[in-house]
Amino acid sequence: MSDTTTDIINQIDEILKNKSILKTAVITGITGQDGAYLSQLLLSKNYKVIGIIRRSSVDTTIRLKTLGVLSNPNFILAEGDVTDIYSLQSIISKYQPDEVYNLAAQSHVHTSFEQPAYTWAVNAQGCLNLLEAIRSFSPHSRFYQASTSEMFGVNCGELVNVASSEHPIYSQDENTKFEPTSPYAVAKLAAHQTVQMYRRAYNLHASSGILHNHESPLRGENFVTRKITKWLANVYIKYGGKPSLLNDDHIHLGNIKACRDWGHAKDFVYGMWLMLQQDEPDDYVLATGETHEVLDFVCEAFDAVGWSNDPDYVTQFIYIDPEFYRPSDVPYLLGNPNKAKEKLGWEPKIGFKELVSEMVWYDIEEAKNGIYSS
Ligand code: NAP
Ligand code: GDD
Repeated sequence: MSDTTTDIINQIDEILKNKSILKTAVITGITGQDGAYLSQLLLSKNYKVIGIIRRSSVDTTIRLKTLGVLSNPNFILAEGDVTDIYSLQSIISKYQPDEVYNLAAQSHVHTSFEQPAYTWAVNAQGCLNLLEAIRSFSPHSRFYQASTSEMFGVNCGELVNVASSEHPIYSQDENTKFEPTSPYAVAKLAAHQTVQMYRRAYNLHASSGILHNHESPLRGENFVTRKITKWLANVYIKYGGKPSLLNDDHIHLGNIKACRDWGHAKDFVYGMWLMLQQDEPDDYVLATGETHEVLDFVCEAFDAVGWSNDPDYVTQFIYIDPEFYRPSDVPYLLGNPNKAKEKLGWEPKIGFKELVSEMVWYDIEEAKNGIYSS
């Protein structure tokens, strides 16, 4: 084939590819857990995805590479930072996106107590900056804000099993009062209410997902779930699959009595997308409707590799370290996702057991290969 023929074929290929592009989406927080899974989902739906990445002295695209997103021809990285409104204005006005997902955050709750002003700048001001950029340059764009169950704070929610006073169960839904108890949650609540205000005042199609905890093998390593699975994988490899340990092998944890409603990130990013496909913008809780203590997570991880999951046995491997306690912690999260089920048709597919097992075995493979990502 001559060079000219190859060129023509390539051009036709390009035209066909562009023709099949349905929509354009801008995602902030592209290098994070959810950014990676959401890009993968949107690319599979023939979106053109523009990921906003902040300048860093090291490569932060490991998750995008792991999911094969980075090499997709419909994926573009654009440099920007949510604390810099000019960078957002330039990207939003250039791409005129159909959808904008604001996932960027200083997302670690413990860190927010040490860096409250920075957390506010990214999580609250960052959201305002993005909404202003949309209002001024692309008001047709539909907007998703990554709100959080952390905003419920110390409020366990409504009693759901009124009949059983012995084992009362509470759960949080869209009407539960927010009682934030960390700088992270206060900033997220400011963003959440700003989104509601922009919806009312400027008629923007702006929705918020009040998402309970969601995890995956791509979860950041200083969140408790991944910290547990990485630790277990290292011990597993070190002792040839046997539940043995030396004194310095204990896992150092803080509040192991805290309860969280843990789902899989893949299910949750699908819920984000569904919210922006609705005729009307709204707020939705996404959750599995099941809660577990941190200690249960460790027991389930032991079970995944065939070790005893008896809590008395498992706790011998845990060192309670005050360093990992927070000035105030959210004691209990359990979400009621009924509104999302009824209005979006959303339902989580991956349960607790499967989630923990997937994370544990992924980390065992990484430990075997000597991969220690940051
Ligand atoms: P994550 O893994 O910590 O990712 C956070 C992302 O935000 C990273 O890509 C980070 O970039 C980016 N970022 C931080 N500061 C930024 C800035 N100033 N400008 C632009 N980007 C910035 O978080 P995640 O678990 O994917 O969560 C996604 C969003 O959902 C967050 O807003 C989080 O608060 C919220 N959320 C998460 C959960 C959950 O359980 N995962 C639950 C409820 C809500 P670098 O790579 O450069 O640091
Ligand atoms: N990180 C961490 N490390 N947490 C620990 C540890 C530890 O060593 N030991 C106990 N915990 C407890 C924390 O005190 C908390 O009660 C619980 O484990 C979960 O902590 P994280 O995994 O750090 O998550 P989070 O619930 O504080 O925040 C996550 O979920 C929120 C949604 O509810 C983050 O993803 C937030 O960005 C998100 O908004």
